Amino acid sequence: MLKDELPSIKTDLPGPKAKAIIERRLDAIPDAIACIYPCVIKRGEGAIFEDVDGNIFLDWVAGVGVLNIGYSNPEVVKAVCAQAQDYFHAMPNIVTHEGYIALAEKLNKIVPTKEQKRRTMFVNSGAEAIENAVKIARGATGRPNIIVFSGAFHGRTLLAATMTAKKAYYHGLGPMPDGIYRADYPYMYRAPKGFSQEEAINYYIDRLKALFEEASLPTDVAAIVAEPVQGEGGFIPAPKEWVKAVRRICDVNGILFIADEVQSGFGRSGKMFVSNYWQEWGCPPDIVTMAKSIAGGIPLGAVTAGETIFSNVVKGTIGGTFGGNALACAAALKVIETLESQNIPVKAKRNSEKVFSIIKEWQKTIYQIGDIRGIGCMMGIEFIKKDKSPNPLLVKEIINNAMKKGLIIEVAGSYGNVIRILFPLVITEAQIDRGLEIFKSSIDEAVKNDRA
Ligand SMILES: Cc1ncc(COP(=O)(O)O)c(C=O)c1O
Repeated sequence: MLKDELPSIKTDLPGPKAKAIIERRLDAIPDAIACIYPCVIKRGEGAIFEDVDGNIFLDWVAGVGVLNIGYSNPEVVKAVCAQAQDYFHAMPNIVTHEGYIALAEKLNKIVPTKEQKRRTMFVNSGAEAIENAVKIARGATGRPNIIVFSGAFHGRTLLAATMTAKKAYYHGLGPMPDGIYRADYPYMYRAPKGFSQEEAINYYIDRLKALFEEASLPTDVAAIVAEPVQGEGGFIPAPKEWVKAVRRICDVNGILFIADEVQSGFGRSGKMFVSNYWQEWGCPPDIVTMAKSIAGGIPLGAVTAGETIFSNVVKGTIGGTFGGNALACAAALKVIETLESQNIPVKAKRNSEKVFSIIKEWQKTIYQIGDIRGIGCMMGIEFIKKDKSPNPLLVKEIINNAMKKGLIIEVAGSYGNVIRILFPLVITEAQIDRGLEIFKSSIDEAVKNDRA
């Protein structure tokens, strides 16, 4: 079966059939939708996809964290087909469909927000989930402002893009919405020189508090929004003591704490959500946004929050035509059931420990591997020059080398010098081993040419 295969490249990339489709792509869709991979998918299973020329790729990007249970999980396919036989769509503002309710009930049980009695609403994407979380926080608090962080990525709609740190995502598209203020995210690998862990966390907390003097009174702040492991920003986990301190700041000032788990959710971290760790540490968020892996590849986003938070949101101000679509809800219920019944988060943790320790070994002889970090199977490897400055050219070459051998990996980080590992959590042992072999040889080849 395709899901058990190992990567194998039989043609130049792109192959002739892929090349023809990519040429049509270049003619038919805007160049602004970027793509660097010369791959045209024909079918996918597990962590593997076959392209239209018969090349087999091992996918360690998986739709940037969409395919935690892999391509075409047969149980999810069955659930979606069964739903499709009855109806595709029932707009929740007009007709109630039970899948929407069942999925909300399930998320209300498993999403660890501070308030125990929860409610959930559905949208179609991560950016929409974030937009709605902001609206809900403003509605609940009656306050206008939102605090976000350096390195953040929250999506490409106008508000989500404004909350995103990298200007390249909205260059030339302004004016952007008002009321968004940015503090420094605790990027511990690049904390001020000479600081201990504790001093660095205090520094980042002071930087956050400075916003209350320099940008917005705390009484005007509705929410602080953080990715528990920053994705696009370089796979940087928020340290425990920092999360605790932010929770305290929120509690003291009546600010809501929003965890953007769009990329980190649904088993990737070794638990269903990174917020489960936060809960264990005594600092759960108030609102959680989700999307990506929630429905195994069918568009769906969700916002879960405490009942009292939702109770102040005015009727009719949230919702939409497709949010909580019946096919997506059927898929999501099966995805969550599969993650739970097959203990996939625990397997993810085991796999991450193996990969982490192997790359740690590589680090002993390859100085360009500056840092390896993450939580569970959300791992980032930061590549540097001798002086610790970012090495984005090396990363470009590694990604290119790996792709030619059939391993798809992706860049992250504000400086483009991090490689992120996001393989489907159902990956086989043999695919992890083969992927690591390809990754290592791709690094070795790139390092040989590296003069930095
Ligand atoms: C943390 C985070 N939030 C929001 C988004 C936006 O999600 P979408 O692309 O579904 O709008 C992403 C996408 O990468 C993300 O990683």
